[in-house]
Amino acid sequence: MSFINIDGIRREFALFREAKDLVYLDNSATSQKPDCVLDAVRTFYEKENANPFRGIYELSERATNAYENSRKTVADFLNAADPSEIVFTRNASESLNLAAFSLGELMVREGDEVVISISEHHSNMLPWRSMAERKGAVVKYLNCGKDGGLEPSELEKLMTDRTTIVAVTAMSNVFGKLNDVKALAAIAHSKNAVIVADGAQSVPHTKTDVRDTDVDLLAFSGHKLLAPMGIGVLYGKKELLKKMPPFLTGGEMIERVSTEEIVYSEAPHKFEAGTVNAGGAVGLAQAIKYLEGIGMENIAKREHELTEYAMNRLRMVPGITVIGSPKAEDHNGILTFKVENVHPHDVSAILADNNIAVRAGHHCAEPLHRFIGIPSTTRASIMFYNTEEEIDRFIKCVSEIRGLMGY
Ligand SMILES: Cc1ncc(COP(=O)(O)O)c(C=O)c1O
Repeated sequence: MSFINIDGIRREFALFREAKDLVYLDNSATSQKPDCVLDAVRTFYEKENANPFRGIYELSERATNAYENSRKTVADFLNAADPSEIVFTRNASESLNLAAFSLGELMVREGDEVVISISEHHSNMLPWRSMAERKGAVVKYLNCGKDGGLEPSELEKLMTDRTTIVAVTAMSNVFGKLNDVKALAAIAHSKNAVIVADGAQSVPHTKTDVRDTDVDLLAFSGHKLLAPMGIGVLYGKKELLKKMPPFLTGGEMIERVSTEEIVYSEAPHKFEAGTVNAGGAVGLAQAIKYLEGIGMENIAKREHELTEYAMNRLRMVPGITVIGSPKAEDHNGILTFKVENVHPHDVSAILADNNIAVRAGHHCAEPLHRFIGIPSTTRASIMFYNTEEEIDRFIKCVSEIRGLMGY
């Protein structure tokens, strides 16, 4: 794996320098943060901290510039047509709540249909369900295949002329399977529906091109992409954002307000009520620059190699079943598995005793777990900065679990 200097990369993370014994395989929950991201946030607060947009003094202007430059970095990263297509939020969940509330107000009438998939994270399921309840709309579920993938032809069959919105994940946080968002978007558009993609898992691991896939809205969180917690993104096509009403209201999102009328600002500002997370946005921009410095193609390649290395070994362990596709290339760093007769919480507790961090439970995808008939699973999730030695330790520990439990 000479295309990536893994030792050098690991030295850029304080956590890996200090917690040498830790094997961190819970990257789908959140990623670790390199020094340059933490430094960028610190520098913002040391040198540029004032309330953006409020003051006309130099420091406030510097804060505004830092925030708006970060928006431009995100727009370029996604290949958006314009920085105004980037709305900063707290996280993917807030982005999806904004999308569901605002699109619901804009275009959903009683009896209309919203299609979501059964493999959605609760963050891309509950906002649509609560909006549908409010509007008297119908939620329809697109089932996934055995590999966790969504079939565009199945979407086509499910849609009717009452379907106004399709909201689907670009990559399942349980299966790791990337969906063909471009094909799903083409189907949605052919039926005049708007398509919203949840990119929380896809954006950190693959190259994203919103103009190529032609999604109308795309949500993701900074913290899964080396950035701080508390900063997220909703990308939206300019024309659509223009029509969408605000989600939260308050300071700095209006043109003017009197007791009689409110005139909202243009997008993206009408969606960013109150003091913004400028430090978080700066951290996100730095994280993107760091990832681009390594190269998103190199990151995907490295993660594919590590996934294959881990999956080939995991499947050899007696009593282990990996959920989803038998092909490593369909997992994109996510290996969700069952250990025969051992509860996932025991699996993760034994791993934790060995200083190996994974996640157990339904991974905020309870309807999906019901659909596949397994109440809970254990998930190891890999990022480019993981090493083969870490995978070896994880596999060794997993292979001992059934013995430790008396099987
Ligand atoms: C696919 C997917 N969507 C949405 C989310 C929600 O992300 P956040 O908790 O950062 O809002 C997650 C988090 O794990 C996820 O995996």
